[in-house]
Amino acid sequence: MKFFVDGADVQEIKALSEIGMVDGITTNPSIIAKTGKNFFKVIEELCALTQGPVSAEVTALDAKTMIQEALKLRTIASNVCIKVPLTEEGLKACYELRQKDIMVNVTLCFSALQAIMAAKAGATYVSPFIGRLDDIGHNGLHLIEEICQIYDQYPEFSTEVLAASVRSPFQIREIALMGADVVTAPSSIIRSMVKHPLTDKGIVDFLKDWEKTGQSIL
Ligand code: G3P
Repeated sequence: MKFFVDGADVQEIKALSEIGMVDGITTNPSIIAKTGKNFFKVIEELCALTQGPVSAEVTALDAKTMIQEALKLRTIASNVCIKVPLTEEGLKACYELRQKDIMVNVTLCFSALQAIMAAKAGATYVSPFIGRLDDIGHNGLHLIEEICQIYDQYPEFSTEVLAASVRSPFQIREIALMGADVVTAPSSIIRSMVKHPLTDKGIVDFLKDWEKTGQSIL
């Protein structure tokens, strides 16, 4: 299972990199706007933090302009992955960009039907948004299960399922059980996975007993 960090905080991503938890990075226009920095500078900074794909999203709505934006974004670094929305124009841009061997992450996926089209358009990744489906009373995790099940039926589909809009470590467990290829989540959610009260208690108990020996290792 690959972990992508959904965000642009360099320090947080560096910290996760030090424990091997960063296989890539995803951004979107809202994440970029939150940095208050130049889009190209942010993506350049992020591309230097990982050898994995860094998703940079186009903002055009028509395929022709999406492709123009994509070709410009690709000049930033070789690990830039172009994010396009799951629309007909986005699929058209995806199909053409993939002919040029450019990585494409088709985002804002909310149905299995959309995911089938992303795979047929040759997307490198499809990003089903779990949290935003949950937000309107649907079952985001069920979508991941459906897409994994459908993709498993067709060996010709090379698109990786990139579970996105993740709001809890519980969701990451469920995503892993379903066999999604990638999860992208904020660094805080990834970090929270390590926490367990019994681990903390176990360390305290071990050290209490160790202190009784009067020994030290160093
Ligand atoms: O960046 C794509 C996706 O992870 C966004 O998540 O929480 O804004 O729905 P969210």
